[in-house]
Amino acid sequence: MTTFSRSLKLASRHLPPAKYLISLVVFALFVIIVVLPQRTTYTYNEAAMDKAAMLRHMPQMQIEGVGVPDLHDGHGHDAHVMAPELNPEKRMLKQAYPKRVNMGSCPPLFGKVTVMVAVVTESYKTHYRVAQESLECYLKSTNYTFLLVDLDTDQRVAQNCKHDQLLFKKHCAASVYLEDTDWMLVLDADTGVVNPNHCIEEWIDTRVDIMFYERHFNWEIASGNYIVKNTPFARDFLRRWADWQFIQPANWNGADNGVLQMHLLTTLNPGAIAEAKACDIIWHQATGYDNYMTFVTCCKVMLGATHLWPGKVRIYRRSHGWVRDWVLTADAWSDYDFMFHGWKLQSIETEGWKSPFTKMFNISECGAGYSGWNWRSESRASVAEIKKQLANFEKSAAGSFPKEAQALPYLVQPDVAECYPECDANT
Ligand SMILES: *[C@@H]1O[C@H](CO)[C@@H](O)[C@H](O)[C@H]1NC(C)=O
Ligand SMILES: *[C@@H]1O[C@H](CO)[C@@H](O)[C@H](O)[C@H]1NC(C)=O
Repeated sequence: MTTFSRSLKLASRHLPPAKYLISLVVFALFVIIVVLPQRTTYTYNEAAMDKAAMLRHMPQMQIEGVGVPDLHDGHGHDAHVMAPELNPEKRMLKQAYPKRVNMGSCPPLFGKVTVMVAVVTESYKTHYRVAQESLECYLKSTNYTFLLVDLDTDQRVAQNCKHDQLLFKKHCAASVYLEDTDWMLVLDADTGVVNPNHCIEEWIDTRVDIMFYERHFNWEIASGNYIVKNTPFARDFLRRWADWQFIQPANWNGADNGVLQMHLLTTLNPGAIAEAKACDIIWHQATGYDNYMTFVTCCKVMLGATHLWPGKVRIYRRSHGWVRDWVLTADAWSDYDFMFHGWKLQSIETEGWKSPFTKMFNISECGAGYSGWNWRSESRASVAEIKKQLANFEKSAAGSFPKEAQALPYLVQPDVAECYPECDANT
């Protein structure tokens, strides 16, 4: 036995056998890979939960009367969301307009207001009489200018609008007649007044030139009813919207309403080129309502939570505009309601539709006060009751929302894959 092998044998008697060494290495690796990182995360969460640490990061909570959030009340996690300086929409509030009281006056604080309804003779003869008479009765209690434009025969429209699809021609007609007024409320012919104790100005927001609202049942920005100001921006917006007739996709595209989603996205967020392109691809793939809604979702996601673009557009949240669909509450209405959309019939109590009225309008009775308005008592409801009904509708609308349209656009379309490395070039 050499000296070397003897000393090796001696050493091995004092060292642990190889299997112990392996166990030791495995344990060390376990500590390094599994235990330590978890410990790090835990420590981080502990710090985030620490009330004092949180307040140090939110000194602004103590100004503007918002107060220090109580982190034990279960709502404290929302406190930073309400910080006024983080919410630019709250900084400059809408110019106040007094709510109409007991059919009183509607002072023309914002100038001349015109109500425009665009129709075609053919359908006007057989539809919408209830809606139009309710509007007429309302208008007799105000000083607004009424404008009924026949898109088939109107000379000024014929001269200025070469469109032959009525929905697009209507927006062109609005851009033409807008020049005669300060503000214009454009209404679908099936929009009527359910509660005349309101002034149109209550919904005029002088921070913007155009006001739209979202449809309650599907979150789409509605195209039929809008308020516009006579400015170059608004006239140009309407004109370009109308001119989409000539470049719209040929597939199931939602007509002027589908166009509106894209027109708003590209107008309000001109830097979102890749995003608009993604929505455009989805739009061109639509074959019916369900996958058309995938496109609507895309535009909504890309526009985000913003509802006000100063100097440009405001989009009222669902059921917060001057009009909502009557079906949401089966014609039940409260003090907050003004107009209902979707009254297509010529008379009440036909085709299973009762309407909120007990008899048809007799316009010669309209004018002062509530004269001429004959409501069913059961259609009147408190704001709290309407709120409950809208909440139920909201839940069911979400439940029946097309599955295909519940897709996140940045997951179904490339996000940066196609424009890399230039995606941020025009941002
Ligand atoms: C319409 O104008 C008249 C005359 O200026 C005024 O007395 C009345 O209050 C106005 N009506 C409304 C609803 O503002
Ligand atoms: C409408 O009201 C006027 C005034 O009250 C009345 O003279 C007229 O007979 C009414 N018309 C109808 C069709 O009820």
